[in-house]
Amino acid sequence: MTINRRHFLSMTGATALVAVCSPQALATSARAQQPPKKAPSALKNLQKFARHKVRFLGYPINMNTPPEEFFAWRNELAAAGLNQFAFNNVGNPYTHSHIPFNCHPFERELIDRFGALYGFPSGNIWGFLSNSGTDSNLHGLYMGRTILHNRTGVLPKIYFTKEAHYSIQILRDVLQLEPVIVGTKPGGAMDTDDLERQLNIHRNHPALVVATIGTTFKGAIDPVDAIQEKLRNRDAYLHLDAALFGGFLPHTPFAGELQQQARDPLSGRMLNRYDSIAVSCHKFFGFPSPAGLFITTEANFDLFREPFSRIHDPEYIKQVPGTITCSRDAVKPAEFYFFSSDKALARQAADAKAILDNTAYLLKEMNNHYSFLRPVRANDHSNIVYFITPLKMVVNRYSLATMQLDIDGVPTPCAHIVVMPHAKKETLDQFLTDLRTTG
Ligand SMILES: Cc1ncc(COP(=O)(O)O)c(C=O)c1O
Repeated sequence: MTINRRHFLSMTGATALVAVCSPQALATSARAQQPPKKAPSALKNLQKFARHKVRFLGYPINMNTPPEEFFAWRNELAAAGLNQFAFNNVGNPYTHSHIPFNCHPFERELIDRFGALYGFPSGNIWGFLSNSGTDSNLHGLYMGRTILHNRTGVLPKIYFTKEAHYSIQILRDVLQLEPVIVGTKPGGAMDTDDLERQLNIHRNHPALVVATIGTTFKGAIDPVDAIQEKLRNRDAYLHLDAALFGGFLPHTPFAGELQQQARDPLSGRMLNRYDSIAVSCHKFFGFPSPAGLFITTEANFDLFREPFSRIHDPEYIKQVPGTITCSRDAVKPAEFYFFSSDKALARQAADAKAILDNTAYLLKEMNNHYSFLRPVRANDHSNIVYFITPLKMVVNRYSLATMQLDIDGVPTPCAHIVVMPHAKKETLDQFLTDLRTTG
């Protein structure tokens, strides 16, 4: 069947859809739109990205190419059959899977290694490699919602600040949770006095709290211990969104921010500082495609498992998966496993130091030469500097993210630079030179 535009428009929507979606029509239109000759120029277009990647300063993605050994590891995995046919990590990586074509042992080991880095008690770690930071946040919020609802019979309210990533708003909509927007301090961190006020107002609901460790635009850090203090003796679950900072803070003098346990000075007992954590793998680590770490305690997983197994009929796959999606990528966990070795962690420590040093350098230079742009680094843990938006040419050349911020009560267009491992001093110097055109 051939179909011209007038004929198409005269059809009803449904007939048009059937006509266009028939395999023959699809094949014809795909051939018409993408003759095979076009492929080389599309490839050329891809190649230009490799030249421009060092100038990508506005978003938290590490554009460095992983070391040679990573690609050698990929080849080893391929030689063993991974990514050559349909492997699938469906299910809980910590229990036996009836579907054997998975890389659960790699997934378990990498979660255990990162869990140890975040100070989760050994033998009390559960998690998996998700699709992204957002996906890990989804699992943290779903786990918190399920545990709190099961314990109290009441749906929790979800608490977060306006500085939290926009995915939290989407997820709270998906999970049908009523939001409580908590106020912030001038630097952008959660105001725990306001949190307490709001907890008291909503005392009849359990509290699902999202603390952001490194807010997306400003790089502010919500104070975990002060938040936990306000949650004491309440039905609460605290999830950390550490999408970017979670990658590098463990290698800095500020590693304590993300430690899952702390000793109570009064009782001497170890207490949980938070319940679960989300970290993106493509941000600080430089994993070349989106993925995320989701880590919680095994004790939390057990609390979740029981009500979840009532929702999810486990008969078909012979286990309770613990994950929302059924099929899961088996290639990425085996590949990301590479990033959990001692050698990889040493490289991450060097990158962590470099990005914080380079952020301090950028701030100093901006203060020295471009103080009229009012540069701000929210705290010394942060690899983000935000400032009044420069000329469009600079914003576009470096793909700077922009946002309207309230500065001294005045709505002001701002931009930021996220100093990732690929943002070396030479690139920052070039950026500083380009800023001169805005003077
Ligand atoms: C604080 C925070 N949380 C979550 C996300 C989303 O992470 P992902 O892109 O891995 O889904 C981002 C992304 O920038 C972020 O900054």
